[in-house]
Parts: sequence; C-alpha cells; structure tokens
Amino acid sequence: MDHIIRVTNPCEPIDIDLGKPLEIEVGCGKGQFLTRRAKENPDCEFLGIERMLERVRLFDGKCRRGSIDNARVLRLEALYTFHYLLPDHHARRVYVFFPDPWPKKKHHSHRLFGPLFLDALWKRLEIGGKLEFATDHKEYFETVLECFAEDAKREGGARFERVEPMARPKEVWTEFETMFREQGLPIYSAAWRSLTVEDRPLEPLRIPPEAEPREGIVRRIGSRQDVAETELREDIVRRIGSRQNVAETELREGIVRRIGSRQDVAET
Ligand SMILES: C[S@@+](CC[C@H](N)C(=O)[O-])C[C@H]1O[C@@H](n2cnc3c(N)ncnc32)[C@H](O)[C@@H]1O
Repeated sequence: MDHIIRVTNPCEPIDIDLGKPLEIEVGCGKGQFLTRRAKENPDCEFLGIERMLERVRLFDGKCRRGSIDNARVLRLEALYTFHYLLPDHHARRVYVFFPDPWPKKKHHSHRLFGPLFLDALWKRLEIGGKLEFATDHKEYFETVLECFAEDAKREGGARFERVEPMARPKEVWTEFETMFREQGLPIYSAAWRSLTVEDRPLEPLRIPPEAEPREGIVRRIGSRQDVAETELREDIVRRIGSRQNVAETELREGIVRRIGSRQDVAET
C-alpha cells in the first residue's frame, strides 16, 4: 500500500473517509509520532503533512514496514492544505510539534502560526477538537500564546480555549523532541480546544509575497518528481485561463501569488 497522497490537482480536496475520526500532524517529519499513534489507534485515520520529500518517503517506509494502513502523508504546504483541501470540522486532533521557529525577525512571516492559520485550524477541527503544540523555542512559544490571546478578542467571541496539553512520555516524542531532550533543552507545550462560534466561509488566502520563496508552492506541491511538478504547473495555468467560476479563480490566483508572480507561471 502506498501511504503518500499524490496531488495532481491542488484544487481538489483530499479524499478523507468522513466515517472515521481524523488526526492530523503538521510538519510530521519522518513520522515517528504519527505512525506510532496510528498503530495504536486502528479505528482512526491519520494524516501527516510534510513538505520535505525525503521525510515523506521515510514516513511511507515506516508505514510499510509496520503494516500501518490508517496513516497517510501529504507532501504539501500546511497552510494551503488547511485552507483549501480539508473537510470542515472533521479533525478531532491537530498536532504541531516543533514547527520551524524562523528565529530571525525578517523571517517571522514564514511562521505557521498567525491569524490565517487560526482561521483555517478552527474550520478544520471538529467543535471540541484539540490542537496540541510543542516547541523548544521559548520566544516562538510565547508568540503562539499571544496569537491565541489576540484571537480570543476577535469580534464574534473566542473560538479556542486553552486546555491541559497531553502528557509527554518518551512514547510520544517526535524525532526533534528526542534530539532536544537528549541535549537537555526545555520543552514548552500547550493545547487548545475549539469552541462553537458563528461559522463563516474562509476568505481566499492572501499571502504577502515576502512570506513565500519564489515558486515555493510548486516545489512543495510536487508530490513525486519534477515531471509531476511541471504537469501541476501546467494544470494551474490551464485552470486560471478557463476561469470557470469566481471561487476557483480566486483560489488559483492565491496559488499563483504564492508561486511568486503570474509571469513565471505563464512562461512555463
Ligand atoms: C523542525 S521539523 C520538526 C519535525 C517533527 N514535527 C518533529 O518534531 O520531529 C519541522 C518540520 O516541518 C516541516 N514543515 C515546515 N513548514 C512546513 C509547512 N509550511 N508545511 C508543511 N511542512 C512544513 C519541515 O519540513 C520539517 O520536517
């Protein structure tokens, strides 16, 4: 069984079995945490999102060797995936463990946590679903706490409440957590539960250009190899050209903005 989800059309939602609970790990790396959890919870579906191809392959290998049939990995950018490709209010847990902290101020716009991610996170979690977050980076930890505190002040009321994070025995450590613990570094963790608020559609993604390296999304979408990336890029161009409906056009423009510029896409 192939555990890698092949994305050929970045506008088509991921095929998820809505009859089973779903847990998602953002930046799942080589899958140490998620594949173990999948093995222990055979009645639940597990989805890893990871943009590094080598790690995606290692995740796949772990599933094959362990005969784990309920875990899959998607090589795609997490914010885009949350925003456009996941079913509404279905995930019972989302795990974000040791996300890249982007410590330099000029790189803060690359960070995952921000208002856009919280919008999409709330939309994808079932009501009462939990986000589990852990990091070794104190400043990023504090920034994420602030981000949720700011979100609670939004018009329409708080949509997350802070709850006790899960226990962190050795059995739940990720690859990075293992490495940090071995170095004796402190680990900061927190969790939030989603609350009922008015459910509005998500706004189309507007990514500031400085937040995305040129052609970044194409590299991240490319699920297998260069050929797949080229096909995908052509598909984007075709669909932008056809302008079948406003929603799709907006979405495609979102992707293009993330690629870098329209001219780059058209040229290819
Ligand atoms: C510091 S590593 C941590 C990996 C794993 N969570 C662990 O704790 O061992 C961060 C991982 O997130 C992935 N990643 C970072 N930003 C991402 C994004 N926007 N979308 C998908 N994956 C991302 C990176 O490729 C990397 O594998």
